[in-house]
Amino acid sequence: MQFFITCTPGVESVLKKEIEKIGGTDLVVSDRGILCSGPDNLMAELNVWIRTGNRVYFVLAEKRTRTFDELFEAIGAIDWRKYIPKDAPIIVDAVSVKSDLDSIPAIQKTIKKAIVTKITGDRESILREDDKVTGIHIFALIRENTLLLLLDTSGEPLHKRGYRTEALEAPIKETLAAALVMLSGWRYKEPFLDPFCGSGTIAIEAAMIARNIAPGMARSFAGEYFPWYDSNYFKQAKESAKAKIMTDRKYTITGSDTDPEAVRIARDNAKRAGVSDTVNFSEKDFKEYVSEYISGALVSNPPYGIRLQDYDLDLLYKDISIVFTKNTSLFGGIITSYDFGKYTRANTWKNRKLYNGNELCYFYSKKFQ
Ligand SMILES: C[S@@+](CC[C@H](N)C(=O)[O-])C[C@H]1O[C@@H](n2cnc3c(N)ncnc32)[C@H](O)[C@@H]1O
Repeated sequence: MQFFITCTPGVESVLKKEIEKIGGTDLVVSDRGILCSGPDNLMAELNVWIRTGNRVYFVLAEKRTRTFDELFEAIGAIDWRKYIPKDAPIIVDAVSVKSDLDSIPAIQKTIKKAIVTKITGDRESILREDDKVTGIHIFALIRENTLLLLLDTSGEPLHKRGYRTEALEAPIKETLAAALVMLSGWRYKEPFLDPFCGSGTIAIEAAMIARNIAPGMARSFAGEYFPWYDSNYFKQAKESAKAKIMTDRKYTITGSDTDPEAVRIARDNAKRAGVSDTVNFSEKDFKEYVSEYISGALVSNPPYGIRLQDYDLDLLYKDISIVFTKNTSLFGGIITSYDFGKYTRANTWKNRKLYNGNELCYFYSKKFQ
């Protein structure tokens, strides 16, 4: 089987490592995601274990497609009766990049028409637009005149782990938080700190990574309900994930924030994620760290003025740079759209372009020395 795992631009390198570790082979990295192959159970394993990707798609077809006739033919070559259960609504999404076929509504219409034509006439009535995630979700990615036709196996996107039922104003996605932890170079032995923790996402993801808790262990996936796929693979993936949780190591993982409501929410989220005994949240102003000695990894998403506007940002970022300069063994980094680059030296800091939601940001990071 072949799969395509989508991700936010900038996290491909960590997603690639994850897929290889889970067992995917023949990886092809591109700007929208990573293609990989593997045995039948890989669909379940990828969904249950991937921390940094958005969705796992099953590859239905890959074909050079320049005209609507070619698109119609490529769609018609697929055995849709196998993939579309009776009465299942169909959602078709499409993206076209540097291709002759560039009208998204026309691409969507052609795909739907080709599916209807392929399956028996009376099925036409069941093919309708529907925003329910329980439907069959098809994604046509056309890049440089090559169609990658994909079937969503995740359902809800992978950042929905299930633990963050409460959040504050500007939470970072769980998938991006996990990517930052992985990019920071933290090796679980050193202390880990998020001093602007908000709803706790980064510290909770760090705790889940350290304890090897599979992010998809407690949720369901669209693929579990595919009539053509053995749902036991999902059961097995979740069962074996439980047995892989580390319980014997000790960690120092801390989150702090000035907002007491944030701290309460972070603690509740940690409880739901099963890591309340691994991560410690407290009320604290970042200013206090300026006069303390700290070491280990600092990974954070400080306020940066687009969504949160009530802070003296210049002072705050100056303090962040002081904390990193004073504590020479401190490593990790911050994700922000604020120009933190003016405080960093090119020989010790890296900056990586990332998107937090739709906002262009940079992850300014300093490696463990
Ligand atoms: C962008 S949010 C962090 C969101 C978080 N990553 C999450 O997933 O929910 C920034 C956080 O910084 C906190 N904050 C602002 N100024 C602070 C300060 N001086 N010290 C500590 N926390 C502060 C805010 O209360 C807010 O929760």
